[in-house]
Amino acid sequence: MDKDIQSDDALVDPISAQPHFHRTESQIAIAGHPIHAMLVAFPIALTMCTLGADGFYWWTGDIFWARAALWASGMGFLFGLLAGLSGTVELLLVPGIRARAASWTHFVIAVMLLSILGANWGYRLGFGYEQAVLPWGIMLSAFAAGFTAITGWHGGKLVFDYHIGTSSTGKG
Ligand code: HEM
Repeated sequence: MDKDIQSDDALVDPISAQPHFHRTESQIAIAGHPIHAMLVAFPIALTMCTLGADGFYWWTGDIFWARAALWASGMGFLFGLLAGLSGTVELLLVPGIRARAASWTHFVIAVMLLSILGANWGYRLGFGYEQAVLPWGIMLSAFAAGFTAITGWHGGKLVFDYHIGTSSTGKG
């Protein structure tokens, strides 16, 4: 009998047994609405706009689109940093988020994305925003757009599959 109890104890997952494992509610929030979820829309949309503007520059040769891509890539990077900051504070502050491996996976993917967004903007600033578009700028933009899709999909998985950042009480 004692032996049975011992083997049951051995099956307890030490991570999910932590007292605060189920505390996953967002703390960096306005009236219970996570700021990170509000901010990520900007880098996601601006990264897609950068690729679109590069494509239009390739198609039309109009310098307007090269300048639009410079601004979209820069703003995408800066808003990405803000989104990353809010996500990182959340990750470090909320014990149930900190305890889940998926949160750290999202952190690693997102930091890689931020370095790609920074490279895309920095390359245009350093090389000249018009000359930078073809061929490397547009290739960097396509890579950034694909990586953004992966990061955004994974962020959604955190919320919709693992219920990270959500309130279990329904109150803010
Ligand atoms: C750099 C560090 C980052 C950390 C530590 C982080 C962490 C998190 C956390 C903890 C959540 C769960 C919701 C919440 O608690 O707010 C989340 C959701 C999400 N993240 Fe991040 N994140 C980071 C960067 C990014 C970036 C750069 C993007 C942009 C593509 C992104 C896209 C998303 C999306 C789309 C969601 C789902 C939002 C929702 O549907 O409510 N994250 N992230």
